[in-house]
Amino acid sequence: MRDRVLDEQIEYYRARAQEYAASISSTVEMFEPGRAMLLQLGKFDQILELACGTGFWTETLLRMGSQVTAVDAAPEMLNITKARLGEERIKYQQADLFQWEPKGEYDLVFFANWLSHVPPFALDDFLDKVRRAIHPGGYLAIVDQHAPSNTDKEVAKEYIYATRPLENGRQFTIVKAFYKLDDLQKKLERLGFEVTVSKFADVFFFLAGKRAK
Ligand SMILES: C[S@@+](CC[C@H](N)C(=O)[O-])C[C@H]1O[C@@H](n2cnc3c(N)ncnc32)[C@H](O)[C@@H]1O
Repeated sequence: MRDRVLDEQIEYYRARAQEYAASISSTVEMFEPGRAMLLQLGKFDQILELACGTGFWTETLLRMGSQVTAVDAAPEMLNITKARLGEERIKYQQADLFQWEPKGEYDLVFFANWLSHVPPFALDDFLDKVRRAIHPGGYLAIVDQHAPSNTDKEVAKEYIYATRPLENGRQFTIVKAFYKLDDLQKKLERLGFEVTVSKFADVFFFLAGKRAK
C-alpha cells in the first residue's frame, strides 16, 4: 500500500520549487567536494538524473555527458530547470519515481538529495530499478546525507518522517531517512555493483558504483 506521505512529499516540492531555487546558491560551496568526485567519474554518453529538482546537479552532468535525461515528479521543478538550462541536450520527464520503470539503459545514473526521501519499505525495489537503468559496465553515483544536520534534528518526527515548512508557514510531512553507509554498500554489492563511498561536509556522502559487466 502506498504511504500517503509520498504524495505529500511531491506536493511539498511542487509548492516549494521557487523557494528551493532561491535557496540553492547558498549550498554551492558545501557540495563542491561532491561535485568534484562526480566529475572525476569521467565522460559518458547517456546520463539519467533522478529527482533533478531545479537542475543544480544537471549543470555538472551536462559537462560529463552528451545527453541528460532529467526526471522529477514536480512540473514546477522541471520548468525551472528547463528555463535555466534549456532543452538542447536535456530530455525532461515528469514521473513519480515510485511508479516509474526504466525504459532504457544509461551509462551513468545519478541522484542527489533523493535517496533520503525513499522510505525503507521502497528502498530495495527502487535500487533494483536503478540497477536495471544502468548498462552492464555503467556507473551509479549518489549524493545524499548519511546523518541528520542540526536543522533535520529540529524538524524530525517519529520514525522516518520530518515536518518541512514553507516560507508562508504551510507545513508538510515528508520522508527523511538516513541510511547506514555499510548497509547501502552491501545492498548495492548484492545487486552487482563495485562500490566506493566518501563522506564530505559533515553529514553528506558521495557513492560511486560500477555495475558488473
Ligand atoms: C531535495 S530535492 C533534490 C533536487 C536535486 N536533486 C538537488 O539536489 O538539488 C528532491 C526532489 O525530489 C523530487 N521528488 C519528490 N518526490 C518525488 C517522486 N515521488 N518522484 C520523483 N521526484 C520526486 C522533488 O520534486 C524534488 O525536486
